[in-house]
Amino acid sequence: MINVIILGAGGHAKEVYSTIDYMNATHSFKKYNIVGFYDDATERTSLLNFKVFKKIDDIVDKNIKVVLGVGTPQAKSILIEKFQQRGFSLETIIHPTTFVSPFAKIGIGAVIQSYCLIQPDVKIGNYFSCNDHVQIGHDAVIGDNVHINPNVNISGGAHIGDNTFIGVKATILRVKVGSNCIIGACSLINKDVPDFSKAKGIPARYTPSDGKISFGNR
Ligand SMILES: CC(C)(COP(=O)(O)OP(=O)(O)OC[C@H]1O[C@@H](n2cnc3c(N)ncnc32)[C@H](O)[C@@H]1OP(=O)(O)O)[C@@H](O)C(=O)NCCC(=O)NCCS
Repeated sequence: MINVIILGAGGHAKEVYSTIDYMNATHSFKKYNIVGFYDDATERTSLLNFKVFKKIDDIVDKNIKVVLGVGTPQAKSILIEKFQQRGFSLETIIHPTTFVSPFAKIGIGAVIQSYCLIQPDVKIGNYFSCNDHVQIGHDAVIGDNVHINPNVNISGGAHIGDNTFIGVKATILRVKVGSNCIIGACSLINKDVPDFSKAKGIPARYTPSDGKISFGNR
């Protein structure tokens, strides 16, 4: 049994909790004891009947592993740095219904939700968070600290830079998407996208990004 704390106490954290719950309830070879959630930017004191920690010093056992439960690249970076500075290490979580080719490489701290398919010779950096039903084709290259929302399709050979956020149901053809980009929901990316851009629409057009991601209720 591995003790874990989920970073974040929002909607994405709840879904990551579900993945761990599923692993514990099925015949997954790894079992987890969830100690709680961590979020220093919420009023919440509990989530799904677990405590929400607000100070890292309240987590005394340094053997507790941390699991990424936030989606925006900026929030991930801040939380990861805080926990790594205090000696915590990250646990990789892959939903049992997801298939990762043994010929794919994934860095540390990934969280990959249900029914994803990661094909041979895909290379993914550290701190990857990937929601349900995502397909990543052969030879695609994905940088560090990327977040992918549900039902995204990334074609074989596509490149995605560091800290990029890909909105729900986007399709990325065999192109290069830069670092620190925001890809709008349902967009079709059929041309290269420069660093620090926001791209949206079918086919997508890009503009400089102010780095803000509007989730709303979309
Ligand atoms: C693209 C996005 C980041 C917003 O960008 P923005 O530049 O701030 O856009 P705004 O909300 O100011 O809207 C500006 C225009 O773009 C349009 N627009 C917004 N998002 C769009 C999208 N994904 N595709 C096409 N057009 C979009 C708006 O309708 C609006 O059009 P209008 O000027 O004709 O009225 C956001 O809409 C988005 O898609 N976020 C991803 C959300 C997501 O996937 N969340 C995860 C859920 S699981």
